[in-house]
Amino acid sequence: MRIAVVPGSFDPITKGHMDIILRAKDLFDKVIVLVVINTEKKPAFTPEERVIMIEKVTQGYNNIITDCFDGLLVDYVERVGACAIVKGLRAVSDFEYEFQMALYNKRLYEPAETVFLTTSTENLYLSSSGVKQIAAFGRDISDFVPQEICEEIYQRLYKKKGE
Ligand code: PNS
Repeated sequence: MRIAVVPGSFDPITKGHMDIILRAKDLFDKVIVLVVINTEKKPAFTPEERVIMIEKVTQGYNNIITDCFDGLLVDYVERVGACAIVKGLRAVSDFEYEFQMALYNKRLYEPAETVFLTTSTENLYLSSSGVKQIAAFGRDISDFVPQEICEEIYQRLYKKKGE
């Protein structure tokens, strides 16, 4: 069975992430969406909340599962026997960082390949941090996040004046 891991912070998951995950599920037998805990970032949602949101938006697909991991990505990849790490590339600006990560990961665990999928044009500009800022100022985020979790993300992030 060919297993791929789609890692990320997913704080929160966006339509851009969903696009990559759904395309990966057609390329591999099983896709694990992995919430990686990044100690350098201050997240808006707990890892458990992020996992629940991802499960909610991927529940209709029987070859997608969600997990959470605190550690080096390649250690998880090796443990589950995955053959690929799938990442989305939005623009040239993503490339340098992602290329470095891919080289580190290849050096640390040779059997896994990093596969870059080109983000679809309608999602090119999307980022979790953009979504968080827009919701915090009370604007509609339904164009940017899956509809099933849109309201809960908004309710959490919208900072009403005076609060
Ligand atoms: O959604 P993000 O924040 O761009 O995801 C980045 C992530 C979590 C995929 C990346 O930071 C990661 O793989 N972190 C785990 C630590 C690791 O394995 N680093 C690679 C060697 S430096």
